[in-house]
Amino acid sequence: MRVVALQQGYHCNGVEGRSRGGAGAALGGASPMASCSGMCRAQVSLVSPLVSRRGSDWYGGELAQGRVGQLGSRGRSRGMGMPRAMLQWNRKPELAGEVPRVVVITSGKGGVGKTTTTANLGMCLARLNFKVVAIDADVGLRNLDLLLGLENRVNYTAMEVLNGECRLDQALIRDKRWTNFELLCINKPRYKMPLGFGGKALTWLVDALKKRPEGQPHFILIDCPAGIDAGFITAITPAQEAILVTTPDITSLRDADRVTGLLECDGIKDIKMVVNRVRSDMIKGEDMMSVLDVQEMLGLPLLGVIPEDSEVIKSTNRGYPLVLKNPPTLAGLALEQMAWRLVEKDSMKAVMIEEAPPKRGFLQGLMGGK
Ligand SMILES: Nc1ncnc2c1ncn2[C@@H]1O[C@H](COP(=O)(O)OP(=O)(O)OP(=O)(O)O)[C@@H](O)[C@H]1O
Ligand SMILES: [Mg+2]
Repeated sequence: MRVVALQQGYHCNGVEGRSRGGAGAALGGASPMASCSGMCRAQVSLVSPLVSRRGSDWYGGELAQGRVGQLGSRGRSRGMGMPRAMLQWNRKPELAGEVPRVVVITSGKGGVGKTTTTANLGMCLARLNFKVVAIDADVGLRNLDLLLGLENRVNYTAMEVLNGECRLDQALIRDKRWTNFELLCINKPRYKMPLGFGGKALTWLVDALKKRPEGQPHFILIDCPAGIDAGFITAITPAQEAILVTTPDITSLRDADRVTGLLECDGIKDIKMVVNRVRSDMIKGEDMMSVLDVQEMLGLPLLGVIPEDSEVIKSTNRGYPLVLKNPPTLAGLALEQMAWRLVEKDSMKAVMIEEAPPKRGFLQGLMGGK
C-alpha cells in the first residue's frame, strides 16, 4: 500500500522524481525551497518512519541476495525485472547527456560517504572505458588521494596551476590501474581554502579540462566538502548534476534536504540520491529508516543504495577502491550498479519486499501442509 502511494507520487513527478515530498514537514524545518524558488512542497505528514513498518516495508532482500538495485531499476529496464538485469552483464552502458558530465558529490552532513562514493564511482566509470577526472574540492581536509592510494604522487595541485607554476597535466595524477582515471587536488593537505579560490577558479579549471588537447573527459566528479559554506558553494558552482549522499538517519536527512534546496537554487536540477550504510537487520528490527522512508522524505530519484560493509573501511585504509576488489563485495556491487545508472541517467526504485514465508519442513511439504 505504502509502496503504491510512493511510486505514484514518484511517477507523477517525472523522471526527475522531484516530489520534494514531506521533508520540510517531516524534518521539522522551514523548507529552503519555499523561499528560494517558490516551489510548493506538499505537506506529507510522516509521523515517524520508524513506527508503522511492521514486517513489510524494509529494504534488504535485494542486498542480501546481491542484486542491489536491479529489480527496481527504472527507465530502460522498468517492468522487465530480473531477465533485463541479467542481460546487463552482456552490454555496455550507453552514455546519456552531454560530455563532459560535471557531477558534484555532496551531502551537507560530514562523514556520510561522499569521498568513498566519488572514488568508487570514478573507478567504475574508468573501468567502463570512460575518461574520468575526479577533483578533490575538500580543500582543508582532502582525502580522496588517500582512498585512491595516490597520496604519494601529488606533487602539484590546482593552486600551482592557477598561479602559473605548473601546467594542468602536471597536476593531474593518472591512476596506474586505470589510466583513464585522473585525480586533481586543489591544495596541499591541511592548507585552508586559499584566498581568491572560489567558484570562478573551479569553473576555470573545469573549462581547462574540457579544452585539453588529448580530449575532454566524459565525467568530471567533484568531491564536495561537508557543510554549506564557502567550500560547498565553490564545489557546486561548475556542476550540472549532483549526487546527494545520505545515511538513513534523521540528522543526515535534514542536512540533505537543506542541501537539495541550495542545489536547486543554484540551478542544479538533476539531483539523485545515494543512501549509504544501510543495514537491513536494523531496518527489519525497525531501528533504522528504510530506503523507502528516505525516498519519501527527500523526494529525490534514487541512484543507489550501499549497505554497511566492513570491506569499505578496509579498502579506505588500504587506499584500494572497493570496486576493484575481487571477488566483489555487496557494497562494491552496489557502487558498480550506481555507476551504470549514472552513465545512463537512470534511477532505481526502492521496492517493498515482503517477509520471506517461513520455510516448510520436508514432511509438511510432502503432505501439502502450510
Ligand atoms: N557503506 C559503508 N560501510 C561501512 N563504512 C563506510 C561506508 N561508507 C563509508 N564508510 C566509512 O565512513 C567513513 C567516512 O566516509 P567518507 O570519508 O567517504 O565520508 P565523507 O562524506 O567524504 O566525509 P567528509 O564529510 O569528512 O568528507 C570512512 O571511514 C568510510 O570507510
Ligand atoms: Mg570526504
